[in-house]
Amino acid sequence: MEKELKQIREEALCAVNEAKDLESLQNVSVKYIGRKGSLTLMLRNVANLPADQKPLAGKLTNILKKEIEEAIEKATEKIEADIARKAPGIDITLPGRPAYQGNLHPITKVTEEICSIFLRLGFEIAEGPEVESDYYNFEALNIPKNHPARDMQDTFYVSGDVVLRTHTSPMQARVMEKSKPPIRIIAPGKVYRCDSDHTHTPMFNQVEGLLVDENISFSDLKGILTIFVHQIFDKNVKLRFRPSFFPFTEPSAEVDIECVMCRGKGCRVCSQTGWLEILGSGMVHPYVFEKAGYEPGKYSGFAFGTGVERIAMLKYGIDDLRKFYENDIRFLGQF
Ligand code: PHE
Repeated sequence: MEKELKQIREEALCAVNEAKDLESLQNVSVKYIGRKGSLTLMLRNVANLPADQKPLAGKLTNILKKEIEEAIEKATEKIEADIARKAPGIDITLPGRPAYQGNLHPITKVTEEICSIFLRLGFEIAEGPEVESDYYNFEALNIPKNHPARDMQDTFYVSGDVVLRTHTSPMQARVMEKSKPPIRIIAPGKVYRCDSDHTHTPMFNQVEGLLVDENISFSDLKGILTIFVHQIFDKNVKLRFRPSFFPFTEPSAEVDIECVMCRGKGCRVCSQTGWLEILGSGMVHPYVFEKAGYEPGKYSGFAFGTGVERIAMLKYGIDDLRKFYENDIRFLGQF
């Protein structure tokens, strides 16, 4: 009996040592300690031995069984560790994957930057509806029924007298209707025009400004807008006020800055003019004051409106407006 155990021990441990993979280890396990394994059968036979031999034979067989079990377990762990180390595609020395941090959309960032400049100048933020009535979008702003800006080509009509606002200027009328001067507000928000190509999207963002008080003059408009341009771009950037027309301001001016691409020399971006238009402005038209119910001649003020996408493109040198809306994280992550 003892001789037999000794032989099984040698054979089994040798087989464990030689096993190169999990399958051969499994075979060793089945052969010796499985349900029909040689050691299992010997254990069962212990019952048939004479009573005085039973305890020792049982004890020795069990000890051996345990020894073989442990040897198999150890060898299994070693083979599994080898597999993990050699497995293709798993390089445990590689650094972990970084967790990406989100960032604000460039349009949000530039909107906030524009607003913060005016907040520092004492303006307050006003917000209003994107679905707007014909009255605030046009009528109250001196845009008569036959004005080209009301053409179906530009305006999205929701129903007869309801439109998607085509600019943030309706906020001028809404604010003045509700409050008396002094007024100093800026109104950021989305606007909509039925237009789409590489320089136009059907939705874009504007920031409107309105300042109304007694004795406000065109020089106040020039002063405030010059400060704004110098802060949003650079204090050395050249700007000019160019006469223009808007139904709700008189006189009106558009503000141009020296082309940021060619520094005024003339290039494709500025159509060889050396200048880029960045905002519309003017002194509030008496008609708009009248619609707001202000006493005629008592107040004066100025208004302006600027396109956020345009400012962002010039600030960051982006050549295609549509990039802002394609949600390509490689583009958006740069700001
Ligand atoms: N609302 C005008 C536009 O969208 C801009 C503007 C605003 C002009 C305020 C004058 C005064 O083009």
